[in-house]
Amino acid sequence: MENLKKLISTGKAKIGIIGLGYVGLPLAVEFAEKGFAVTGFEVDAEKIKAIKAGKSYILDVPQEQVSRLYKRGLLNATHDYNALAKQDAIIICVPTPLRKSKDPDVSYIVASTDEIKKRLRKGQLIILESTTYPGTTVELTKPVLEEFTGLKAGKDFFLAFSPERVDPGNKKFGIPNTPKVVGGYTKTCGDLAAQLYGVAVHKVVKVSSTEAAEMVKLVENTFRAVNIGLVNEIALMCHRLGLNVWEVLDAAASKPFGFMPFQPGPGIGGHCIPLDPHYLGWKMRMLNFEPRFIDLAGVINSGMPEYVAQRTGEALNMQGKCLNGSKILVLGLAYKPDISDPRESPAMDVIAQLEKTHAHVEYHDPYVSCATVEGQKMRSVPLTAQSLKKYDCVVIVTNHSCIDYEMLVKNAKLVLDTRNATKRLPPSKNVCLL
Ligand SMILES: NC(=O)c1ccc[n+]([C@@H]2O[C@H](COP(=O)([O-])OP(=O)(O)OC[C@H]3O[C@@H](n4cnc5c(N)ncnc54)[C@H](O)[C@@H]3O)[C@@H](O)[C@H]2O)c1
Repeated sequence: MENLKKLISTGKAKIGIIGLGYVGLPLAVEFAEKGFAVTGFEVDAEKIKAIKAGKSYILDVPQEQVSRLYKRGLLNATHDYNALAKQDAIIICVPTPLRKSKDPDVSYIVASTDEIKKRLRKGQLIILESTTYPGTTVELTKPVLEEFTGLKAGKDFFLAFSPERVDPGNKKFGIPNTPKVVGGYTKTCGDLAAQLYGVAVHKVVKVSSTEAAEMVKLVENTFRAVNIGLVNEIALMCHRLGLNVWEVLDAAASKPFGFMPFQPGPGIGGHCIPLDPHYLGWKMRMLNFEPRFIDLAGVINSGMPEYVAQRTGEALNMQGKCLNGSKILVLGLAYKPDISDPRESPAMDVIAQLEKTHAHVEYHDPYVSCATVEGQKMRSVPLTAQSLKKYDCVVIVTNHSCIDYEMLVKNAKLVLDTRNATKRLPPSKNVCLL
């Protein structure tokens, strides 16, 4: 323990990060910026190639930073797991998707743990960051590491969980100024993990166990999923009442206490909010507990793309047209503004729903040049005053800030705005809100 403490405090600890994706790469560059030698372990050969060429493949990580850190020998990437033995701290940042049945798929954590166990040595600190159900670190990771090596967590090696809170595209909050929650298997494990993160993060919040830290992340994302579900249902109510949901929510948000604004929209996306609550739901069902809020929010949020298709049909109907045979442009494929990540994006479901009604759908996204939607390859089409004229309706699904909404409204025959992206423009007859 003392040795590891010293290695961290002197900046000499070698840090290994398994999984250099949206979470792993930003974390890797943050530690490398502090002078630590960071090695990323990746299965994706393209990502390794990119790092070795000094290139970034994540919008929030500048090219210059990867290039500079790689050249200085502070950032590297490899597929050779043998180098895990040289690391003083190993942080696991691999995906935690859902199976088709909506059960947790922890196979990536298992695969990473299997690679670590073959090289685990005394004094190493192992931290799991992947979002997962409460109990994973102690029930899944710890026994595998201990049984294979005979080493004991908390005594021979150190084990902790620290949830990632990265918010892609957020210009205000990045890794350094977002407090980091840490829970250790023992107090010493927690202290060491907190010391390590303290190097790169201004504030570390310690909790008493790995389970508490795992639960923190699920509470944060379940809170968002449930509140988005609530405002989405309020959007449905406002439509029935003939009210503008954003006007109502904006006014409600003027209350300086006891109200927190959430925005309605075409559904939820990304690899966190739509998935993480199901990790908690699955765990609770194992304990014979029905997670009702999680299930209800899931039903409402996943029903939004169908509602968007229905609203598109209603809007076309007002112009004497129908969805069948109409040309529709879906604007925005990324799951949220100003990022390039289309994973779990509601735009995919909106396109699928529209195509079900035999509408001809194209999409434009300045950050997503191509995508596979329902097994079909699609390419982003240009967005110009001229090109807009060929569509019967433009459905704004992602409100990227670089889009010229004034030009859009001026030239489109009809716009369904599911994000209130046109709020700063004067009211226009060809714009319908969600
Ligand atoms: N993306 C986010 O905004 C975000 C935010 C908070 C938490 N998380 C959580 O963080 C975790 C990682 O998410 P992400 O968005 O970075 O995923 P990602 O898919 O962008 O990155 C994961 C990386 O791990 C690599 N990988 C998979 N198996 C591997 C293995 N056995 N060895 C080495 N590399 C392997 C993949 O090739 C990929 O590059 C997930 O649990 C996710 O829920 C994500």
